[in-house]
Amino acid sequence: MLAELQDIKKHYNQVLSGRQKPVLDGVSLRIGKNESIAVTGPSGSGKTTLLNILGTLDTADSGSVILNGRNVIDLSEPELARLRNGFIGFVFQLHFLLPQLSLIGNVLLPLLPLKDKQARKAGHERAMQLIERVGLKDLVNQKPSGLSVGECQRAAVVRALVNKPALLLADEPTGSLDAETAARLGILLTELKNEEGISMVVVTHSPELAARMDKIYSLGSGKLLPINKA
Ligand SMILES: Nc1ncnc2c1ncn2[C@@H]1O[C@H](COP(=O)(O)OP(=O)(O)OP(=O)(O)O)[C@@H](O)[C@H]1O
Ligand SMILES: [Mg+2]
Repeated sequence: MLAELQDIKKHYNQVLSGRQKPVLDGVSLRIGKNESIAVTGPSGSGKTTLLNILGTLDTADSGSVILNGRNVIDLSEPELARLRNGFIGFVFQLHFLLPQLSLIGNVLLPLLPLKDKQARKAGHERAMQLIERVGLKDLVNQKPSGLSVGECQRAAVVRALVNKPALLLADEPTGSLDAETAARLGILLTELKNEEGISMVVVTHSPELAARMDKIYSLGSGKLLPINKA
C-alpha cells in the first residue's frame, strides 16, 4: 500500500453550542500504488478534513495514517516536512497561490528546497511542459490577480505535480472549470497516472471526473463507503 487511513475519527467542537460535532466516524481507506480514487459526498460531509488528515496537514482524534509504509505518528517534524514536499502533491480547494508571485513563480515554489541544480532544471522543464498541457503557456508571467479562478486552479494543479509526487491529493481540482477544461484536466490526471504511476485521491462533485478514477467512494454521516462504478 502506498497510503492508508485506518479507522480515523475526527470531531470538531461547535463554538456556539459547545457540543462535539463528529465529522469522520471510523474512516478507513487503502490507496495502492498507481491507483486513483475519487471521494464524493455532500458539502460539509468531511471531504476536505479527510484529505487534510491524509496529507498530514491536520491530525485525527484516533486512528492511523500510514504513508509509504510508515505511521506518520512516528515521524519527526523534518521527516514530515520532507514527506509533504516530496511524497505528496496537494491541490487545495481554494488554490492558495501567492499574490506577489507570477504564475511560474508560484508553480516553481516546491523546487526551492532543492539544492541540486540539475534537479531544479529538470523541475523547471517539467513545470513548463505541464503548464503547456493545461493551456497556461501564454500566462506564465501573470500574477494571480490577473488570472481567472479556473486558471489559478490549473496553476495549483501544476504546482502540486512539479515535484513528481507519489501521491496527489486534490480537493475539487475542477470546481471552477467549464466542462471542456475540466475534462481536459481529468484526462491529464489519468495520463500522468499511466505515465508516472502516480496515485491520487481526488475530491470532486463531478461525476465525469469521478468516473475517470479507478474507484469511487462516498463520504456521508462520517462514513466512507465504496460506490459501484456504472
Ligand atoms: N476548523 C474547524 N472548526 C470547526 N468545524 C469545522 C472546522 N473545519 C471544518 N469544520 C466542520 O466540519 C465539517 C466538515 O468540513 P469539511 O470542510 O471537511 O467538509 P467538505 O466535505 O470538504 O465540504 P465542501 O464540499 O463544502 O468543501 C463541516 O460541517 C465544517 O463546518
Ligand atoms: Mg471541502
